[in-house]
Amino acid sequence: MAASHFQYFLFLVLVTLATLIVIPTTHAKLSPNYYNKVCPKALTIIRSVVKKAIIRENRIGASLLRLHFHDCFVNGCDASILLDDTPSFLGEKTAFPNNNSLRGFDVVDEIKAAVDKACKRPVVSCADVLAVAARDSVTILGGQQYWYQVLLGRRDARNASWDAANNNLPPPFFNFTQLVALFQAHGLNLKDLVVLSGGHTIGATHCGVFRDRIYNDTNIDPIFAANLRNICPKVGGDTNLAPLDSTPNRFDTVFYTSLMSKKGLFHSDQELFKGNGSASDKLVQLYSRNPYAFAAAFGPSMIKMGNINPLTGINGEIRSSCRKVNNF
Ligand code: HEM
Ligand SMILES: *[C@@H]1O[C@H](CO)[C@@H](O)[C@H](O)[C@H]1NC(C)=O
Ligand SMILES: *[C@@H]1O[C@H](CO)[C@@H](O)[C@H](O)[C@H]1NC(C)=O
Ligand SMILES: *[C@@H]1O[C@H](CO)[C@@H](O)[C@H](O)[C@H]1NC(C)=O
Ligand SMILES: *[C@@H]1O[C@H](CO)[C@@H](O)[C@H](O)[C@H]1NC(C)=O
Ligand SMILES: *[C@@H]1O[C@H](CO)[C@@H](O)[C@H](O)[C@H]1NC(C)=O
Repeated sequence: MAASHFQYFLFLVLVTLATLIVIPTTHAKLSPNYYNKVCPKALTIIRSVVKKAIIRENRIGASLLRLHFHDCFVNGCDASILLDDTPSFLGEKTAFPNNNSLRGFDVVDEIKAAVDKACKRPVVSCADVLAVAARDSVTILGGQQYWYQVLLGRRDARNASWDAANNNLPPPFFNFTQLVALFQAHGLNLKDLVVLSGGHTIGATHCGVFRDRIYNDTNIDPIFAANLRNICPKVGGDTNLAPLDSTPNRFDTVFYTSLMSKKGLFHSDQELFKGNGSASDKLVQLYSRNPYAFAAAFGPSMIKMGNINPLTGINGEIRSSCRKVNNF
């Protein structure tokens, strides 16, 4: 009896210790109310600048969504993506997936300036600006059913990594196995992969990116491919643009319906639907047929992505300029 009581006591002690040790490292302490006291107007201001930017140019919403994704996949959601090169590190902006491709940096600066002015000092991190601007872009282009509460309190990195950007962002020629593995490595499962790929319901891409698919792939609708060859010749025209789906300014489920008719513009996207009844096929079918299921799934997967390794507490800093680290 006494021995088993003692074992139980020991067990409780161990559980308590394990909890104390594990919780602070695995749970980011992000919260939706983080700026309520220090800058209550922050979220309203971010949304209004995003709205103005989208009215100026529809595509910028897509570009802002992509910035948050490319930030989070490379050493966590820490605004490392926004840093310009310095003598001590080569930044992420010129890594292969980003060079001449990422856009929206000016709008991020505009948002940051507006928020800092309203708060009278820099209290909102650039990493949080990216997370909120991504959510606002989606709801402005898709409607309130895509709204989700963004968790806040991320701090900004003091370095960035060109190599990490090359190694952590998926290229458009990845196959299904590679996509699943890369998302898995970032704590995201098959459902998250299919749901977040739905980000390709808005925005545009360059001929140089999808040329191989329209000339070489077999699981592509032939009329769709032929039409794209008019925009994208076999040689030249690398920077010519094509919309990612037929409604590139509308955040909707047309992306999934397109995949079902072999009209995915990226090889990687079409990998999610092969038409043989795989688990991935079933998710694509579900989101194509049921926009409510997609709307219900999108926020939770974005929140998961937004929770990738944030800097919190005394780590990192709140940058004054999103393009460079503070001096002190
Ligand atoms: C699953 C693997 C993914 C691959 C292989 C991929 C690849 C790409 C590529 C190659 C482009 C076009 C780049 C260019 O032509 O300049 C692009 C654009 C875009 N991606 Fe992804 N992406 C993936 C996942 C995501 C995710 C998870 C999101 C957001 C949740 C996202 C959002 C976007 C958006 C919105 C655009 C258009 C940007 C614009 O018009 O400025 N992508 N992606
Ligand atoms: C990025 O693009 C520029 C052209 O705009 C080019 O000069 C540079 O070499 C590219 N960088 C990398 C790392 O590919
Ligand atoms: C920044 O440096 C820290 C350690 O000094 C490292 O753990 C982290 O991965 C670096 N981040 C990037 C983006 O390279
Ligand atoms: C996916 O690509 C990897 C790397 O090129 C390759 O080893 C693997 O065989 C491919 N998987 C399939 C199912 O094609
Ligand atoms: C298509 O495949 C052929 C043969 O593998 C290759 O030479 C070519 O570069 C690929 N891309 C295009 C756009 O034809
Ligand atoms: C569907 O096809 C892919 C390759 O094209 C294969 O890896 C997968 O196992 C297939 N799934 C089913 C359920 O047949």
